Amino acid sequence: MGRKSREIIRAKADEVIGDLTKAYADEWLAHYQYWLAARWIRGLDADTMRDILIEQSNDELGHAEKIANRIIQLGGTPTMDPGKLIQTSGCGYKQPASDPTDLKQVIQDVLDAEACAIETYSKLAEKYRTTDLVTHEMFEELLEDEVGDEEEWEKLAGIWIK
Ligand SMILES: [Fe+2]
Ligand SMILES: [Fe+2]
Repeated sequence: MGRKSREIIRAKADEVIGDLTKAYADEWLAHYQYWLAARWIRGLDADTMRDILIEQSNDELGHAEKIANRIIQLGGTPTMDPGKLIQTSGCGYKQPASDPTDLKQVIQDVLDAEACAIETYSKLAEKYRTTDLVTHEMFEELLEDEVGDEEEWEKLAGIWIK
């Protein structure tokens, strides 16, 4: 990052990198959770749900990429050891239900993950509103995406959970 870009950041770099590292883990774990659920689920509605899971799993990977780029820009190092992702994550990881036909559980788990992401990004966007505008903007974009995800899954819950 260049001199002026560093100058305009008033937040402590370590603190920003710490928050980004947490979010980075959350995104990888959400990506993995959705990706695996897409392969695992079986049953009548599984094909429809699979496509949505794959699409959103790709979105979460895109989020992880944005966050990694910002960590590097700030002079940090994205988590190199994947074994550390659960440790550093804020929202944690929910493994797919042992019963692959339990689609209600998949929906619930995704809704829980999205709710946690929304809470996290709304807090972080607020936190850096005046001290790190680039990070603030990125969290705002991520928040907008997760709000859209939650809306989509709530609609699906209305169809599939009766
Ligand atoms: Fe995400
Ligand atoms: Fe999401």
